[in-house]
Amino acid sequence: MQATRLIHLSSNAISLVLEPNTAGAPVWRYLGARAEDAASSLADAWPAAGARPLPPTVLENDPPLTLMPTHGLGWFNQPALAGSRTAEGGDLDWAHDFRTDHVEWDTHTLRVALSDSVAGLGLTISYTLEPDSGVLSTWAELENRGDTPFRLDWLAAACVPLAPGMDSVLGFSGKWTLEFQEHRETLGVATWRRDNRRGRTSHDSFPGVIAGSTLGDDDGVALGAHLGWSGNHTILIEPLADGRRQLQIGEWLAPGEVVLAKGERYRTPSAYLAFSARGLNGLSQHFHQFVRQHVLTWPDGRMAPRPVHLNTWEAVYCRHDLDDLKSLASSAAGVGVERFVLDDGWFHRRDSDRAALGDWWPDARKYPRGLAPLIDHVRKLGMQFGLWVEPEMVSPDSDLYRAHPDWTMHLEGRPLVTGRNQLMLDLANRDVEDYLFDALGTLLGEQPIGYLKWDMNRDLATAGHHGRAAYRRQTEACYRLLERLRTAYPSVEIESCASGGGRADYGVLAHMHRVWTSDCNDALTRIGIQRGFLRFFPPEVMGAHIGPAVSHTTGRNHDMAFRAAVALPGHLGLEMDVRLLDTEERAALLRWVDLYKTWRDVTHGGTLRQGEIGASLAWLQIAAADRSAAFVAIYRRQEDSHRYIAPMQVKGLEPTRRYRVQILHMPTAPHYAKPSGLLATFAAQGLVLSGATLADLGVPVPPLPPESAVVIGCTEVMD
Ligand code: GLA
Repeated sequence: MQATRLIHLSSNAISLVLEPNTAGAPVWRYLGARAEDAASSLADAWPAAGARPLPPTVLENDPPLTLMPTHGLGWFNQPALAGSRTAEGGDLDWAHDFRTDHVEWDTHTLRVALSDSVAGLGLTISYTLEPDSGVLSTWAELENRGDTPFRLDWLAAACVPLAPGMDSVLGFSGKWTLEFQEHRETLGVATWRRDNRRGRTSHDSFPGVIAGSTLGDDDGVALGAHLGWSGNHTILIEPLADGRRQLQIGEWLAPGEVVLAKGERYRTPSAYLAFSARGLNGLSQHFHQFVRQHVLTWPDGRMAPRPVHLNTWEAVYCRHDLDDLKSLASSAAGVGVERFVLDDGWFHRRDSDRAALGDWWPDARKYPRGLAPLIDHVRKLGMQFGLWVEPEMVSPDSDLYRAHPDWTMHLEGRPLVTGRNQLMLDLANRDVEDYLFDALGTLLGEQPIGYLKWDMNRDLATAGHHGRAAYRRQTEACYRLLERLRTAYPSVEIESCASGGGRADYGVLAHMHRVWTSDCNDALTRIGIQRGFLRFFPPEVMGAHIGPAVSHTTGRNHDMAFRAAVALPGHLGLEMDVRLLDTEERAALLRWVDLYKTWRDVTHGGTLRQGEIGASLAWLQIAAADRSAAFVAIYRRQEDSHRYIAPMQVKGLEPTRRYRVQILHMPTAPHYAKPSGLLATFAAQGLVLSGATLADLGVPVPPLPPESAVVIGCTEVMD
């Protein structure tokens, strides 16, 4: 039998093997853990995909899964491309048959050029494997080579196989104040599918999915996929005839949203895929490394230690008074805050969420001499100044709207749909973009503002630009505006907020530096929100604030320690009026802020693992990149029937090195078990254990009352 030269991309974590195919796109032969044997690229021991014996009743053309399966000539599953050419009496060119014109590949990249001369279409598919992180970035691009416009309905950014046995899926749902909720489902005979049509990344359908076998914390194979895009998306997993499944991910397109004129191209947003043979934690480690190396772009090229924020929202809401804010800033500086972020309420006539968006200059009633006196005060206290804006929006009650009612996204003849009393500006209108660039530029240019909290508080409806659906245009225009601002003001950091975590994706993170994970600061709810977030994002971009004792969104009451311990691994902030703390609480807060500063070099850049022990305990560990230390937090959500907690294994340290293990925080409760024996010694003096002992036997865990946390630190003992 003739040997087939297979296409083979490989990193330490993942291998892709495809078979060149003149009759279509390359055929998928393998996607999974690094496959050593395929490295020869001469795997002819088993029949080529096209040579499968055909059972009775199937078409003689029964195409195998390729990088780009298309509809019309015998592929009856979901195609990776759908579209047609409008013609009189009905559409044409809806059936596609591509030939490979050119394949170029090496160990880490694959480029395939395809064409369908009958339909007048050209396609480019790009797969790039980052060798360090093992994350695969993929996109596809369609070119209309025909004479008439081609309407595109769907183009997958990635189309990949899931091996038989990958029958479980971890998907994400959510809502405001409850983002990134994980759901495990068993895949069956029907297609598993999620569409987001809200026009922004959304609270309820995060553009990511994980498919696998057991989906264990540290065991089982898992493939994660994410679309780096802040607009609409579709993710689907469909069973195939051979026991495998196909996973497709891409941008959901509204009818007529992409119509390509002759010679025009549409490129999908990039999809990102990772594979782990070490369960969910292995997967998030790949994604974290990728985000650190390839997504984030920091001012001056490197991440500065993530400064402690004070965000004014839950302290004063829109009730801004200069002297009051100065006193808040002074009090914040006293507990170690490093960046003071002035939230909503500072601009022209903004007293509530009913007016003023678009009028981006200081409210003369609240700030008669502009923001300078407050900014000076903040900076004299040694803090950086940050400012909240929501540039993509306009309030009907605003000077901007009165002057330019035609600047909104709208559909002729349709009512304007408001959300939080506001409308969307049509950013694809160059005048709008210039207005926003100038307005924000004036703020950034005139004052030493080092940070923007960039909010976006509504879904898109009537998202039209000259009658056409414009979700995509809007997202691209937003990225363009961000890029213009980043280029003009390169030292400014930006936070992505959309009523909390409604815009968290690698697309926006290429322009920003932090995500406001959720408007919920309730530590108990936050445990689940943050766990889902951390599957795809590293802790240093996870905005995590210590809120007031009584949560403003749930009404639940938690002590400082629980609130702080949950926020500590992320990018820490305070979302409260620190002046209201009594002496004891203030001292406790100061201690937690100090602890954050001591540990942020470990937590922000290290290797994260997280997991659960039943429904009642959740834990998280971050080992320093150089293995010199590890941060461990164990959270109890609720009581359970176990009398004791088993020791916690701490992994990721160097087996032969020795570590001082110290309890950094342990809860107390009246009538709750007191540590005794070894645990008492541990609590009082710490322990010295080897990395191997920590990984195998673990550390003792003190008793934990409901809604409390234990925090443990391991630091290398230098002889
Ligand atoms: C959104 C954000 C909050 C706050 C308010 C201000 O809800 O998520 O953090 O900035 O807007 O209006």
